[in-house]
Amino acid sequence: MQQTFFQLMMLSVADLCHRLIPDMVDRGYGRVINVASVAARVPRSGGCNYGPTKAYLVALSEELHLTVASSGVNVSALCPGFTHTDFHETAGLMEMKNKMAKWLWYDADVVVKDAISGVQSGKPVVVSGRLYRWLDPIFQSVWTRRFLRIRARPE
Ligand SMILES: NC(=O)c1ccc[n+]([C@@H]2O[C@H](COP(=O)([O-])OP(=O)(O)OC[C@H]3O[C@@H](n4cnc5c(N)ncnc54)[C@H](OP(=O)(O)O)[C@@H]3O)[C@@H](O)[C@H]2O)c1
Repeated sequence: MQQTFFQLMMLSVADLCHRLIPDMVDRGYGRVINVASVAARVPRSGGCNYGPTKAYLVALSEELHLTVASSGVNVSALCPGFTHTDFHETAGLMEMKNKMAKWLWYDADVVVKDAISGVQSGKPVVVSGRLYRWLDPIFQSVWTRRFLRIRARPE
């Protein structure tokens, strides 16, 4: 079960990158957007493997960026926050979605615009949405990690 998930979330993306990018390098131009998530940027309790697989996509994209950016090929990991798509309905998460504050949610066209401008300007990690761009340095901070570790300790 986990292997199938890893295949979909990580291996298929790595495989496509490794199949397609060499020709882009030969051509001297290419744009690759790997759809990760804000979930890649901060560990969550109970998130299981979703965040870690997205963190792999961020690491993969950053590494590929360093490898091929000088050849005219831009690789970006796109990190959207909560976005209105079919995702939550398909995953049976509509009850959770309906309880959440509306301002946490972005429309998909905002995410697409951020992704295109981010990859065009050669950013290896593109966090989409003003709110999530503001939160990202907090998610990445050692203090956040320390706080989460302390909170997880037994009473
Ligand atoms: N929506 C959010 O809040 C959010 C936030 C952060 C990151 N993301 C990421 O954004 C990406 C796109 O998701 P979305 O929000 O656009 O959701 P979506 O509307 O449900 O789209 C998911 C897509 O993945 C395809 N898919 C699902 N299972 C597959 C499988 N086993 N093999 C091949 N294709 C499969 C679906 O194809 P079919 O339609 O043919 O089933 C669909 O095109 C995902 O990687 C998700 O993790 C979403």
